[in-house]
This record gives sequence, C-alpha cells and structure tokens, in this order.
Amino acid sequence: MCGIVGIVGNRPVAPLMVDALKRLEYRGYDSAGVATLDEGVLGRRRAEGKLVNLQSRLDENPLAGTIGIGHTRWATHGVPNETNAHPHFSNDVALVHNGIIENFRELREELIEDGYEFTSQTDTEVVAHLVSRELNSGKSPPEAAFAAIKRLEGAFALAILFKNEDNLIVAARNGPPLAIGHGEGEMYLGSDAIALAPFTNVITYLEDGDWATIHRDDMQIFNENGARVERAKQLSVGSTLMVDKGNHRHFMSKEIFEQPEVIGHTLSHFLDFSEQRVSGLDKAPFDFKELDRINITACGTAYYAGLVSKYWFEKLARLPVDIDVASEFRYREAPMKKDGLSLFITQSGETADTLAGLRYCKQQGQHIGAIVNVKESTIARESDVVFQTLAGPEIGVASTKAFTCQLSTLACLAVGAARQRGTIDATREAQLVRELSEAPRYASQALKLWDEIAVIARDLQNVDHVLYLGRDTNFPLAMEGALKLKEISYIHAEGYAAGELKHGPIALIDETMPVVVIAPYDSIFEKTVSNMQEVAARGGKIILITDQKGANAAGMDDAKVIILPEMPAIITPIIYALPVQMLAYHTAVHMGTDVDQPRNLAKSVTVE
Ligand code: G6P
Repeated sequence: MCGIVGIVGNRPVAPLMVDALKRLEYRGYDSAGVATLDEGVLGRRRAEGKLVNLQSRLDENPLAGTIGIGHTRWATHGVPNETNAHPHFSNDVALVHNGIIENFRELREELIEDGYEFTSQTDTEVVAHLVSRELNSGKSPPEAAFAAIKRLEGAFALAILFKNEDNLIVAARNGPPLAIGHGEGEMYLGSDAIALAPFTNVITYLEDGDWATIHRDDMQIFNENGARVERAKQLSVGSTLMVDKGNHRHFMSKEIFEQPEVIGHTLSHFLDFSEQRVSGLDKAPFDFKELDRINITACGTAYYAGLVSKYWFEKLARLPVDIDVASEFRYREAPMKKDGLSLFITQSGETADTLAGLRYCKQQGQHIGAIVNVKESTIARESDVVFQTLAGPEIGVASTKAFTCQLSTLACLAVGAARQRGTIDATREAQLVRELSEAPRYASQALKLWDEIAVIARDLQNVDHVLYLGRDTNFPLAMEGALKLKEISYIHAEGYAAGELKHGPIALIDETMPVVVIAPYDSIFEKTVSNMQEVAARGGKIILITDQKGANAAGMDDAKVIILPEMPAIITPIIYALPVQMLAYHTAVHMGTDVDQPRNLAKSVTVE
C-alpha cells in the first residue's frame, strides 16, 4: 500500500507534499516522510506514526527546496519506525515506494557483496542502492533508474530524486497506480488524482510497465522497453476540498449518517422510477439472458456485498454465481467459458488482488464489469462497463456507506438480470423497484436507533469474543458485522451461518459470549429462533436485530432486542447493515480506539 507524492515546483514543496499526503493517508498511516533537494543537496524528515508527527517534525526543523518526494507508509517489510520510513537514501539517490519488491532478498545479498550497507529492514532500500550503483557505473539518472527498475520483480510505484538534479523526478509503475499532474511551471506526481487535486485537475495516468521523467515544464513517458510512449491527459473530477467530518466526531459516524442520501443517489442512478424499471443495462456489452453463470470477485467488505448478491442473482434471476475472495481467485486458475461475465466489486478500484483477478478474467475472454466507487480508479479504467456506486469519498477505514451502495447497485443489477432473463415479469420488476426506492426512508428510520445501540454496545466493550449469526442474505451480513467489530474495536468476532452453529461454534458458547443474531421476521425466522434457543440454553447473551413481528415471535425475554421497522425482503440486507455498523462503531468509541484509522489497517490495499 502506501501513498506517494512528488513535486517539481517553483515554491517550497515540503508543506505542499504534506498536504497531498493527508489525502493519501487512507493508503497507510504508520509512518511518513518527505525528502527535498535544496541547492543540490538531499534532505529529509521522517516520523513514526501519523502525518501529524511528520508535520511537527517539519515545524521544528523545516525543509527548504522546490523539488521533493513524500510518502505515507503501511508497513510490509520492517516494523513501522522512523528508520524504515521512506524516503530511503543511497548516496545520491532518494526514493519512495508503494508495493512489494518480491526479489529483494537476492538483490540485497548481491548489493551487500558489492559493499552497500543497509540501514532499514525494508524491501525498498534495495531499489535506492540499485539506482545508486547504476549511477556509479556512469549512467545518467534516467538510465540508472531504468536499469534498476528492470531488475525488480513484484509490484511497485516509485518516485526517485537525485542529488544535483534540480529539475527531475523519475517515476515508475508496475501495479500500484501513479498519476502525473500538469501545472503551470510545476509538475506533480501522486498515487491518485485526489492527492493532486489542490494543485491541478489535468492528469496523465501511467500504465503498467511505464516509467517517466518529470520536469517543471514537461515530462516524458517510456514503456518497459525504454521506448517513448504517449499517454492521454485527462481532466480529473476529484474535489479540491478536503472532506471534513462536519459535526461528527468521526468520519465513520458521518458516513453512517450519509447512507439514506447516498443509497438514494445510487439507486436513482440505476432505477427509472417513473417507468418503474431498472435502467442502464441496455448499454452493457452483455445480455444476462445469454449467460449461464457469473463470476464475482472482491475483497473484504466488498466480498460480503458480493455474497449477498449471490442470493439475489440466484433467487431472482436464476443465474448461478461463483464468488471468491480475490486473493484466492487470482491463483485458482478457474476455468471460464469465453464471453462470460465477471464482476468486480471494489470501493477504491485499486485493490491489488481484485485487479489481478480482473486481468486474469480478461485473459480468459470475459466481459468485465466493475461495481466501483472511485470512477477514475485502475479497476474502473480497465473494465468494459462500470456500475458506479455513488457513495462519495469514504474516509473511515471501516467501510459503511460504500457497502450499502454496493448492495444497492447489486440489487438493481439482480432485478435487471431477472427481467432480461424473463424470470420476473414487468409487474414484479415494478414492485421490486418500488420496494428498493423505499430503502433511503428505512435507512433514516434505522439511524434513529443510534442512542439505543450506543447503550447496548456498552456491554460489548468488555468481552473478548462475539459471534454473529444469520441465515440467507443475513449470513454474509453476519460476517460483515463481525468484520466491522474486529476492524475497529479489536474484539475477536466471527460471522456464521446460523444453521452451522451446531457444527462447531456452539462449543464456544457460555455466559461470557455475546451472540448477535440478524433475523428479520421471514419464512425461515423460526429456524433461527431454534438457534437462539440453543445459545440461550448455554447461557449465551443474545443481541437480536429484528422487527416487531420477529421480537414477538422470538419470545427471548433475556435478549437485548434492536427493533427495525418491517420492510420488503429485498432491502433488508441494506437496512440491517446500519445497526450492525452502529453496534461496532459505538463499541469502538466506548473502548476509545482510533475509529477512523484503526491499527494495522489501510483503506486501500494495493499489495498482495
Ligand atoms: C481493505 C479495507 C476494507 C475493504 C477492502 C477491499 O481491507 O479496509 O474496508 O473492504 O480493503 O477494498 P476495496 O477498495 O476493493 O473495496
């Protein structure tokens, strides 16, 4: 992961780079650093921890210079401390890196034999030394960088600064994204266009294998063979404003509260309310009628959104769904029928495993569809068709509104698929569209449970483990609920299919174990009641999320019950996600963890 920036400017760049890094903190926040060139001399400041620490370091000891590179880190090789923080130096070279150099061990041995001394535990430092060695052999800075890059295996986005080269940054991309920004007598480099938004909205994206020489007034891009290539300039729509928390204590709570609006926005993108039908599918380069199955790939929360949609696609459209986490899918060598449809669900559009899965499917002759929140992301750009979720920027590391917008989009696709395949008629489609259009209203009602859930969450702050149970679409939601709690409260939690309880997890139940049961009153509610009784009989403490009918039918006097309004089945996974998010949020707040930037995590995972 990690975020990188570079500026070849005409004013002091250190403060500008810190500003750009703030926008990249979602990519990692365990240490940060900047390096500049001042009168031909390389200088750097680095600090362990969040960017505020680097900011204080720079306040105490400013760094002059109108050209520089910067980095915010998510540690892969080497603990997060100042020594391992980027930029890394080697003689006349300063370098920042996002990704993993897979052959770093052999390169390190080779460089040590050549007399290079390593000061960090990172894989990155080998690249700095490699470039330095090539420079020493008499190559020019661009030639030296190119020669070094050719030795690298793995994924990397790099920015390199050279002593005495006051008008040059070399950038390279193999995997993680890199955007070059065009300014007036200044040029910029960043892991994404949002980082560069305060400076410019004219962007050139490097493609895989590209490397570039960036100067104040121009830049040149080369491919992996060293030949000049042209890459188009694009206008980025990234906002120049830093997204703020408004009146909220955390981005996560703000994003939870935005859900009625962004779900509505997303639904109106895919539904024609006046015609009461799903719209936009006619422009897709495939027809669900022609497909005999679809393949879905995603990671983390996006994967759970995909799992919910499997139930929808299979029930409504009678369309079988193969779904995998991307880290497994990419190496599974799944056989695929040509002209099939592969869908990739991703908030960031940059997740390395998901992108690798996409490229595999492309090779297999699949149509590629992306359910993606960031329109300018690599996955969006590499897809045949983009179904954009309109959640807006999601800053909290634990995904909330992106998840419910993914669900909203997938529900529309499933209904559209059902209509194309003739498994539902126009009347049923109209009914489902009406039901979906109710989701924002129900989401607003769910948010009224905020204070009540805060009280229930008090009991969770002192436990070590929590079990989440659900059936049908509430099973993936149980897994998502457990993930949310793990991510931000660090309490161990597992999501299970309620019917699987007796096949193992029931052994864990005792009077110390809270069990969150997600169960709207539906045709299989009674089955879940049996599971709750099995838990209660062993002293487990039940927190039941249901509706009034469910509460009445469950008859669990000792349970804490969170009651939502009764609602159409199609929207239950979307709306029931909200109390699940709120439960995790309040537990984390009671515990005093860093809700928006939980330890060890990053918003966008651009390494394997
Ligand atoms: C990280 C984030 C999760 C997210 C997952 C997939 O683990 O912390 O919130 O669900 O990556 O990210 P994507 O951007 O592909 O949805």
